[in-house]
Amino acid sequence: MRRKLVAGNWKMHGSLDFNAGLVGRLRDGIGEVACDVFVCPPFPYLAQLQQLLAGSEIGLGAQNASEQQQGAFTGEVSLAMLRDFGCRYVLLGHSERRTLYGESDALVAAKFEAALAAGLVPVLCVGETLAEREAGLTETVVFRQLRAVFERVSVKAMAAALLAYEPVWAIGTGVTATPVQAQAVHAAIRGFVGAGDAAVAEGVRILYGGSVKPQNAEELFGQPDIDGGLIGGAALVADDFLAICRAAN
Ligand code: G3P
Repeated sequence: MRRKLVAGNWKMHGSLDFNAGLVGRLRDGIGEVACDVFVCPPFPYLAQLQQLLAGSEIGLGAQNASEQQQGAFTGEVSLAMLRDFGCRYVLLGHSERRTLYGESDALVAAKFEAALAAGLVPVLCVGETLAEREAGLTETVVFRQLRAVFERVSVKAMAAALLAYEPVWAIGTGVTATPVQAQAVHAAIRGFVGAGDAAVAEGVRILYGGSVKPQNAEELFGQPDIDGGLIGGAALVADDFLAICRAAN
């Protein structure tokens, strides 16, 4: 049985004061939550979040990382630096990194391999655009994104990772994939992993991301192959994020 997990992707939001208030509310309510939980603030706030989360059940992650260990890479952040601030997780290949910042499947695969080597849990994000879905290319796109990683590190590496299916057309739009739509892709992803290693496929947790709200979380998380959520906007509202986490209990 896979333990449910809910992660908050804060994207480029927050301030020292906002973060202190939000985390204070999350810590007050986390006792009613039975699933695994972590949050991913912007890089500048990792030190603050490490302090604010200390001693809590809430884990810490980052939204991206360089595949390079160190060197003349202006503006980049290494995985070792994330580990210095207590990060356990790192999101990789989020659609905003892929579409807005041109991160290729190969670059995401290199980052994934580096994250494993650095001892972090990579969260591999995959998903199709609306045009790709409407062209019937959802599985083609998602399998291509997965294959780039599996060819670099082997499918067995997924035992130490998390997967996140985030249909691009549902991210930040308020248009959530229906439970049937999401389950169908999650099952296809698990089947694709299973073609390489059945045991890894059974154990890997696949999160759904894309306009998850308190109103739709329970039905989504009740699907057999949806193991939790990767939450954007609702992660910035303590009551909503806690309600979503409780829906994963
Ligand atoms: O990484 C999660 C994010 O892309 C989903 O955003 O605002 O649709 O929950 P949102």
